[in-house]
Amino acid sequence: MKLGKQILILFLCVIMMACTHVGNVRNTSIEYVIGVSLANLSEQWRLVLKNELEAEAAKYDSVRLVILDAAGDRKKQAADVERLMGFGVDLLIISPGDVEAMTPVISKVYEEIPVIVLDRVVEGFEYSLFIGPDNRLIGQQAGEVVLDLLQKNGTRNGAVLEIKTNSFANESRSEEFCRTISEAGIEHRSIYLADATRDCAEDFLLAHPELLEDISVIFAHNDYMAYGAYLALKKLNLTGIKLAGLDGFSGENGGLQMVENGIIDATVTCPTGGSEAVRYAIDIINKESGIPKQIILRSHKIRPGYVPSIYPADGGKTKQKRDMIRVGYAQIDEESNWRKASIESIQKAAKEFDVDLTVEFNVLSIEDQMEQVRKLIAEDMDVIVISPLVAEGWQDILEEAGKAQIPVLLVDRTVSIDEELYQSYIGADFEEEGRRCARWLLQNTSHQFQVSILELRGTEGASPTQGRKDGFESVISEYGTYQIVASECGDFNREGGAQIVRNYLRSHEWDIDAIYAHNDEMALGAIEVLKEYGIKPGIDVKIISVDGTADALTALKKGEINCVVECNPLLGPELMKAITDLMQGKELPLRIITDEIVFTEETPEELFRNRKY
Ligand code: AHR
Repeated sequence: MKLGKQILILFLCVIMMACTHVGNVRNTSIEYVIGVSLANLSEQWRLVLKNELEAEAAKYDSVRLVILDAAGDRKKQAADVERLMGFGVDLLIISPGDVEAMTPVISKVYEEIPVIVLDRVVEGFEYSLFIGPDNRLIGQQAGEVVLDLLQKNGTRNGAVLEIKTNSFANESRSEEFCRTISEAGIEHRSIYLADATRDCAEDFLLAHPELLEDISVIFAHNDYMAYGAYLALKKLNLTGIKLAGLDGFSGENGGLQMVENGIIDATVTCPTGGSEAVRYAIDIINKESGIPKQIILRSHKIRPGYVPSIYPADGGKTKQKRDMIRVGYAQIDEESNWRKASIESIQKAAKEFDVDLTVEFNVLSIEDQMEQVRKLIAEDMDVIVISPLVAEGWQDILEEAGKAQIPVLLVDRTVSIDEELYQSYIGADFEEEGRRCARWLLQNTSHQFQVSILELRGTEGASPTQGRKDGFESVISEYGTYQIVASECGDFNREGGAQIVRNYLRSHEWDIDAIYAHNDEMALGAIEVLKEYGIKPGIDVKIISVDGTADALTALKKGEINCVVECNPLLGPELMKAITDLMQGKELPLRIITDEIVFTEETPEELFRNRKY
């Protein structure tokens, strides 16, 4: 144990002994010290975060938190982190204020100890775990709540007043909020407050009552500002204006209570992730396997009498009368080694977790897969898991599952519909995979000359295809010299990849500098054809692909592939853990994003070991 940590534990023991009676055995049992750096404690949300962290840590005798408040000062936050490191903490939990300024600080700490980042995600994957909300979704949900309030007011004519501050979270939410209500033809105006407080909102509206003319709904970016607006409306004797807030904290004077008491009309919850952070911190320190990379927490629209539709009405309890949890899994066909590994991982984990698993395979169309899901609904499964072949078209069937009170989990691929129709998505961040592929290309080619790219796309309409395409393009579009000159669908299989390259070679002079394949199978197919034509893969043309199968890593070692961005198929343990939590009535995160690395010729040897698929 480091000296700094020994001194810190001694110090914590002395403090505790002073607070409790001397000789309490609890005082000698501290094993883990977790450093917590908070951006500020002036915002209510961060106070709630601090309370949640402390409440969760108090459940464990072996854990102590050391919390430092940066008071909104980025230099102080960097210095706080250094102090915590000096104490020899085992893990750092950080809620960064200025994300850009803190990114290098976090990366540096991550070289020495695990880091959990809360609230605002930092660029890249240089941390152990991110836990936070989906701010864009929260903005959209706030917009939907406001549209609903306008509807209830019997008119959609009135305008909306948005109250916000100049903060990162407010801005990212505001964009989606404004988009949602503008698309419905609703006019809005926005005001910026100096502070996100009740008093600030109240004073501002009292000083500017003209801003309230023809306003039907006020939406404030937190419940306290909404409460300030409520007080101002009362003083101004204005009735009929509805109020929506954001945060939805429980407890006295929290947003939930304000909605219940009719002070505000609606709110959207924005969880802090404090309890999850402590629980995962302990798992990380204990080196548990299957720790995800990102946990995106679920937010809810709260209106009087509203019950979130994602829960089975009884929290799944009626299903618990069975000895084993019965899970029906609608898979795709076994088009790749990746998918075989994914199915095996889920089957193995089901055995370990004592889950009765039925797997339906060989899906070639969305209609086939829907039939499978319908069959699983008819069999009254406790939980249905789907790896959706394509992202669109799921609304009706997931509503059918909802009516039958069967919760649905998405694994490895996602859908593009209302997130209230499924419990959680467990899998990769496909856009980030695409961005990582593009970043490698940028770092390994000259930006000054034209770089012509041939893109081998996955299955049409599948979420990895869209995400990998969008992510890749978002990065290369910053540079005029990188161009996707041809992009064809190879359906995620070897023959598909081979066929694209063959066709290209038949109709073009070879002018491609890089092949970007949406998965390894297609890259391997492409390589075979390139060799037939005497083009050296990895040398004459750079090859970048996604997955990290054993065959692709072998090709990388031979120099035939230059970069493989991992997409982890071993989702079984995370999935079974989520199913178990769900059946115990726990709310699951909206998304659980897996941990993945990038393989290149520089990747250390030990990371290649044990690749069985
Ligand atoms: O859904 C994940 C993708 O689908 C994998 O990258 C690919 O190999 C698979 O077929």
